[in-house]
Amino acid sequence: MKHFIALLALSALSVDAAAADPHSFAQPEKFLVRHVALDLAADFEARRLAGTAELTVEQLDANASELVLDTNGLEISTVHLVEASGQAKVLAFKLGDPDPILGSRLTIAFPPCCAAPSTMRIRIAYRTSNEAGALQWLEPAQTSGPHPFMYTQGQAILARSWIPIQDSPGIRVTYSARIRTPPELVAVMSAARVEDPAAAPGEFRFEMKQPIPAYLIALAIGDLGFQPLGARVGVWAEPSRLAAAAHELADLGRMLEAGERIAGPYRWDRYDVLIMPRAFAYGGMENPRLSFVSPSIIAGDRSLVSVVVHELAHSWSGNLVTNATWDDFWLNEGFTSYLERRLVAAIYGERRADMEDAIAYENLLQTIADLKAAGLEMDTALKLDLAGRDPNEGTSDIAYDKGARFLRFLEVRFGRAQFDTFLREYFDAHAFRGMTTEAFRTVLLERLGMPGAPRITAEEIDAWIYGPGLPPTLTPVPQGTFAAVDRAAADWREGRLATADLPAREWVPQEWIRFLDQQPADVSDEKLGELRSTFHLGADGNALIALSWLQLAIRAGYAPAYPDVERYLLNTGRWRLVETLFRDLARTEAGTAFGREIYAKAKPGYHQSIRNAVERLIYPKA
Ligand code: BES
Ligand code: ZN
Repeated sequence: MKHFIALLALSALSVDAAAADPHSFAQPEKFLVRHVALDLAADFEARRLAGTAELTVEQLDANASELVLDTNGLEISTVHLVEASGQAKVLAFKLGDPDPILGSRLTIAFPPCCAAPSTMRIRIAYRTSNEAGALQWLEPAQTSGPHPFMYTQGQAILARSWIPIQDSPGIRVTYSARIRTPPELVAVMSAARVEDPAAAPGEFRFEMKQPIPAYLIALAIGDLGFQPLGARVGVWAEPSRLAAAAHELADLGRMLEAGERIAGPYRWDRYDVLIMPRAFAYGGMENPRLSFVSPSIIAGDRSLVSVVVHELAHSWSGNLVTNATWDDFWLNEGFTSYLERRLVAAIYGERRADMEDAIAYENLLQTIADLKAAGLEMDTALKLDLAGRDPNEGTSDIAYDKGARFLRFLEVRFGRAQFDTFLREYFDAHAFRGMTTEAFRTVLLERLGMPGAPRITAEEIDAWIYGPGLPPTLTPVPQGTFAAVDRAAADWREGRLATADLPAREWVPQEWIRFLDQQPADVSDEKLGELRSTFHLGADGNALIALSWLQLAIRAGYAPAYPDVERYLLNTGRWRLVETLFRDLARTEAGTAFGREIYAKAKPGYHQSIRNAVERLIYPKA
């Protein structure tokens, strides 16, 4: 019976396989939210959004009398059924007891007298909590100008903390919005701007015509300017950063074209990038039409723009074909990391892609070892089981890099041309739909059954998807590009090469990172001191070179660099950078103590998701 219902829901859900989402209260077999019209005002003083969300809801089950939505911390004042005439009828509602991870189920009742039409509009008046998980409110001191800033972060299950909605990635909505801000600020969203010459200052309208999962609805408000970088592309940033941002992102149009060549037509009309304040929680977030990107990618030499390539690639893997549940997260990130490498190779050359690949590989090996040591070997499989856990806990290199290596394995077996055809057809056939790991496996096996397909067994595939660590079919990772750096690293370490004689002036940032990552824990303080003063290593400059340097300092117990560890962690809120350093600190008792000291100061500047991630590291549950 259960299967039958699940099958019925299949087409309406537009999920390629019936997928129960352990992280949502929604009952998509009864009702589906199709459109959300937001009318919200941002109150920077109170740190709240307040207004209404009008949901267009389709009833699938005629017997259903309750609509269940996800919320987290929302204060709901009224719920109305809006009739075609415009008349509104009050509906009863109930907020369930909050679950610490999932939030509260909002149950809206339809009285039996008023048999609901199959499509209806439900208007919910509410305000967000002043501690809403999705929202980060920044003081002027945390921006690069004299104004405050706020943004939303929906992924993974935080959209429900600012919109009452079916917050499951397998369910898609279109949306429109009217946003009111303080008059001197500008609002941007993951949607088309609707220019309204009659709009008052501080009033902005948006329209997203393509259906997207709730986690991709996004808003940012600040002192923002825009610079076009081509017909379809451009950059938003705080005014003082706009010129540097435009210089860094000069290749944006080429990136988009390269994406279309590999993955098929770009379906979102425009692609803009929003350069965020330093506290932004991620390197990048793929909000459709408008990726949010950390300013830490601005290195001056375009060496860190792979993050932007990555977020752009999500326009296909993630935003177009979407993981149906967070257990299928690798379908978003693994495909995207694979595409990222391909696009970097196309735009910046094979050598740069190979270097980034080799660096990522070393990090992946470390992650696998760490997860194993922590008794979490099950999290080294691509398909995760996150029921009962915060989905962000499953967010590791595994989804990204093991996922990308699985696709690389398929590419090698298929041959590039045939694999590219497969990919393009995959994005096309499943566009604007959710995808489970099992459905992808089926699609792949079907393709492998067709004439001319390579021989790849289900066992080989399942070893990647369900097995731990890295299977024997791993394609060897190119290390040769680093041969010269590796030689220099060994010679320096073993005293055959003086610090002053390192050929480092010729190194690109990726070579610097490799050099630093190759150094073991027992390098002497003296050598590290020389390195630091000769090459001005510290908390500033290229954010990833600084990260590798500070990791080395922590590993080697090099105390003179500790103040820079603190400075770095106070200056960025970017997940990977922050998590990497706190994880390294947490490897020793003294490091943990130092980490706690730093965190006490840094915490107010971190997004809630990053606080949770750091606390898991430095205050682990016994
Ligand atoms: N979608 C992710 C960010 C994310 C993951 C947000 C999980 C919330 C939960 C984004 O596309 C991403 O992967 N960002 C990376 C950069 C990328 C180049 C690997 C990041 O922020 O480190
Ligand atoms: Zn990503």
